[in-house]
Amino acid sequence: MKNFLKKKNKLFTKNLVKGKEVYGESLVKLDGVEYRQWVTKRSKMAAAIAKGMKTFALRENSTVLYLGASSGTTISHFSDICEKGTLFALDFAPRVVRELVVLAEIRKNIVPILGDAAQVDDLAQNVTMVDVVFQDIAQKNQTKIFLDNVDMFLKKGGIGYLALKARSVNVAEKPQKIFNRVREELKPRVKIIEQLNLDPIEKDHCMFVVEKK
Ligand SMILES: C[S@@+](CC[C@H](N)C(=O)[O-])C[C@H]1O[C@@H](n2cnc3c(N)ncnc32)[C@H](O)[C@@H]1O
Repeated sequence: MKNFLKKKNKLFTKNLVKGKEVYGESLVKLDGVEYRQWVTKRSKMAAAIAKGMKTFALRENSTVLYLGASSGTTISHFSDICEKGTLFALDFAPRVVRELVVLAEIRKNIVPILGDAAQVDDLAQNVTMVDVVFQDIAQKNQTKIFLDNVDMFLKKGGIGYLALKARSVNVAEKPQKIFNRVREELKPRVKIIEQLNLDPIEKDHCMFVVEKK
């Protein structure tokens, strides 16, 4: 199966739950198959694909740790793609985790977890080793949190995605300077495969794609 579809500059994933949208996205039928539009302005992963990202590690059977799942916009597309996989969907805000629980009732590959991404030892009670770590949390110490989770949960050779929000690290500093510094922080711990600036879709954001050594 193709993991996502690009048509006329729009992205789509094959809908796992027929007839149901998740966040107001369009449902379209192509050759008798129902797809959901993956809206680039609503998802940093979709924005990275739109900006030309080449490394797409999600497969039908992938096990994924998603840090900062919120109410499930992006992870619902991961759920379409990793149809037979397992998606650990973590967030520390009880309100959004309640929405994730509702989503997980109809999307059985999603495992909602209420927890803090910074507390990796606590997470180990609920999370196994994974093929992919994806992080989208607006925190000052987001790079450290990402690396700690990669160390703890990502299999050797597995792929990590860090959606970095420069303004959360430091509002006063130039984003490019922050991106350069984060690159240096990542280098000794993981192999950097790609770095994409998500401007103008996501202002002052960058996506790092890394491989665990
Ligand atoms: C930008 S939103 C994520 C949007 C989501 N990735 C999507 O595309 O659908 C950031 C989320 O990270 C969560 N978050 C921030 N810090 C966190 C932490 N330390 N542990 C767990 N979740 C965190 C917030 O509660 C928020 O829901």
